[in-house]
Amino acid sequence: MVARVLEWGLVSQGDYFLIDGDATFVEHAALWLAEWSRARGSGCVHGDGGVRITGCGTDLRVHMKCARAEVLEPGTVGSPADLLVCNSLLDLVDVPTLLPRLLRLVKPGGLCWLTTNFDGETIFEPGHPHDRILMDVYHRSMDERRRDGEPAGDSRSGRHLFGHLRAVQAEIIAAGSSDWVVFGSDGSYPGDEAYFVEYILHTIELELDGRDVFTPGQVGGWLADRRGQLARGELVYVAHQLDILARRGPVGT
Ligand SMILES: C[S@@+](CC[C@H](N)C(=O)[O-])C[C@H]1O[C@@H](n2cnc3c(N)ncnc32)[C@H](O)[C@@H]1O
Repeated sequence: MVARVLEWGLVSQGDYFLIDGDATFVEHAALWLAEWSRARGSGCVHGDGGVRITGCGTDLRVHMKCARAEVLEPGTVGSPADLLVCNSLLDLVDVPTLLPRLLRLVKPGGLCWLTTNFDGETIFEPGHPHDRILMDVYHRSMDERRRDGEPAGDSRSGRHLFGHLRAVQAEIIAAGSSDWVVFGSDGSYPGDEAYFVEYILHTIELELDGRDVFTPGQVGGWLADRRGQLARGELVYVAHQLDILARRGPVGT
């Protein structure tokens, strides 16, 4: 998202706090951003706990932190932020608990850009007779997911955000879909899509493992069919997701 906000001209200077609960990703982000900056012709200097990207009209200090969102305190980001970006995160956490905490990182009237929130539809084409029942179980596994004994997921997080944001008096400014739509042509996919879809299939495989749906052979058959279609560039994958832009209100909690 650091690269995206710079490429899209949303931000050019300031302090950006890049936070993720997985240390490996945070470490990799520093290396990745250095490579990305070089390719773009920007400078990228590694400093204490982050990188500074300069040049091409940019001066962005990226502070990198490994932390679970559930323990973030307003002081984590220095002074209250102008903008909170949560990309592909809110479908993995308990939003009613976390949202007030996240909003306290933002100054009153600041913006919250909450993107790619999964919203209840996983579609593969061509259709397969087992799709409906397997996807229902896959989605249920998101709803039942727990981390440290606490709820950690929602298969309809996108639509539920409207209510959760209203509950904390945030103003919804804009909303729209941000579906992933992956398809190939001439027997292959243009970039890393095959790797990406294999990762999704792997996730589904893990979630279905041990659940009493079909026999393991039937689940295995479905996966083998999908992997065969992926190898031939025939598999279409769609995930329905929603983006919301909101303005923080007076979160009193
Ligand atoms: C689909 S990835 C999105 C990564 C990144 N936000 C992006 O835009 O590419 C989901 C990320 O959420 C992180 N994550 C999941 N639960 C979290 C939590 N409770 N606190 C902090 N990070 C969390 C995972 O470590 C993972 O990197």
